Amino acid sequence: MNSFQPNFLWGGAIAANQAEGAFREDGKGLSIADILPVGKNRFDHINLEIQEHVFYPSHEAIDFYHTYKEDIKLMAGMGLKCFRTSIAWSRIFPNGDDESPNEAGLRFYDDLLDTLLFYGMEPIITISHFETPLNLVKTYGGWKNRKLIDFYEKYCEVIFKRYKDKVKYWMTFNEINHAHTLTFLAAAILVKEDEHKLTDVYQASHNMLVASAKAVILSRTINPEFKMGCMLSLSPIYPASTKPNDIFSSYELRRRSLFYSDVQLRGYYPSYFDRIQKENDIKLEIGENDLEMLRNGTCDYLGFSYYRSSLHEEGMKILGNTGGIMGKKNPFLKETKWGWPIDPIGLRYVCNELYDRYQKPLFIVENGLGARDTFDDRGEITDQERMQYLKDHVITMSEAIRDGVEILGYTWWGPIDIVSAGTGEMEKRYGFIYVDKQNDGSGDRKRVIKKSYNYYKQIIESNGKRL
Ligand code: BG6
Repeated sequence: MNSFQPNFLWGGAIAANQAEGAFREDGKGLSIADILPVGKNRFDHINLEIQEHVFYPSHEAIDFYHTYKEDIKLMAGMGLKCFRTSIAWSRIFPNGDDESPNEAGLRFYDDLLDTLLFYGMEPIITISHFETPLNLVKTYGGWKNRKLIDFYEKYCEVIFKRYKDKVKYWMTFNEINHAHTLTFLAAAILVKEDEHKLTDVYQASHNMLVASAKAVILSRTINPEFKMGCMLSLSPIYPASTKPNDIFSSYELRRRSLFYSDVQLRGYYPSYFDRIQKENDIKLEIGENDLEMLRNGTCDYLGFSYYRSSLHEEGMKILGNTGGIMGKKNPFLKETKWGWPIDPIGLRYVCNELYDRYQKPLFIVENGLGARDTFDDRGEITDQERMQYLKDHVITMSEAIRDGVEILGYTWWGPIDIVSAGTGEMEKRYGFIYVDKQNDGSGDRKRVIKKSYNYYKQIIESNGKRL
C-alpha cells in the first residue's frame, strides 16, 4: 500500500551560509555565520570581529555560489521534486539596515531560482536561516531590538516582490525555537546564563514572532498563492522514566518548543505562557498592534526538522544543539558518531503529535544522517548507514501518512555535503554527493556521487515504493 500522494514533494535542503561561500562577493555583507570558527565549542566565546589566522568555514563553504548550476544539475539527476535553500539576507541588505537592496545579490537568486525551475524543482525558501546580518547584532543587539522587525519586513517585501512568480513555498525563520539553546544562531543575541537570560530570549522571540506574522500578512498582498510556513526543530522528548515528575517535566520542555508553533499557527500566546512570565519575572515590551499582527499572520503549514529523539529527566541541565535537546542516553537506540540517537519511530510519533495538535499540513524540511565517509579500494563511497537511515525514516513517514497525517513533502538535509551548523565541520557529512573538502578547508571541492545517490533516486522514482 503506497501512502505518498502523486504530488508529494521529495527533495533536499541546504542553507545559504553552509553552502555558498563567496562571503564578500558581489556586495555581500557579513552575517553571524561568518564569524564562527570550526569546532563544537564554536559558540562559547563569540567574537564579532573576524580574526586573522582563524579559519571560518562559511567563507568558502562548498563554493555553491559559483557551482550551483552544476550542483543543481547533479541533484536533478536524483529526480528531486523540490529544493530548499535560504536567501542570505546579507546578500540583499549587506548591513541589514541599508536604504536600498543590493542588486547583485538579487540577481544571484534570480539565476539560482531559474536553474531550479529549469530542472522542475519547486523552490522552498527559508527567509532567515541562522544568517542575520552581523551589523544588526553589533549596532542593535540582534532580535532583542524591535527595530529588526522593520528591517526584516523590508527585506521580505523586496524578496516577495522580486520572486513572486518563482517561489511559492516560504518559511519565515529556521528553527525559531532554538532561540533558547542556540541563541546566537537563531535569535542573533548574545546572552549570559543569568537571571535576565529568559527575558532576552522571550523578547527576541516575541519580536521574531511579530516579524513572522507581519511577513505573512504582507505576503498575502503580494501573492495570495504563497504558502507561508513556520519552521521548528521538533525532534521529540521522551520522559526518561515512568516517574510522573519526569513525565511532566518532559511535557513542559516539549511545550517550550511548541510555544512557537502555538503562536505561529494559532495566532495567540498559549495560556501556559502567563505562568512562565510571572515565575521568571519576564516583562515583555509588546507593541500596540503586535497581538493583532500575531492573530492575523498565522502560517499555512508547519515545517520542521527531525533528526533524533531525546530522553529527559526532571532537574536535568538542558543543553541543546542543532539536532535538539541533548538528553540522557537511550539504551534502546543506536547513536551516530556525533552521539545523536537514531530513532525512526520518533518521526512517526512527532508527525502524529503535531497533526493532532494543529491539523495543518506538515512539511518535513530536514532529516538526515551526519556521518564520516570513506572511499573504498575502487574509489567509491558505500554509505550503507545513510541508506538505512533514509529507508527507515521513509517507512515511518509513510506510516504517519497512513495514520492520516497530511505531509506536503520531505527534504533530506544536505543532499550534497555542506558545512555543519553545529560544529562548522565538513567531515560531518549528510550528502548523497561527496564534496572533497575537509575541516581545515583543504581539498579540491570535487563532487563524487555516493551509493546513496542512486538509492534516493529510486525512492523518488517509485514515489516511496521501492525501498
Ligand atoms: C538544523 C539546522 O538544526 O540541523 C541546520 O537547521 C543544520 O542548519 C542541521 O545543519 C544539522 O546540524 P549539524 O550541526 O549537523 O549541521
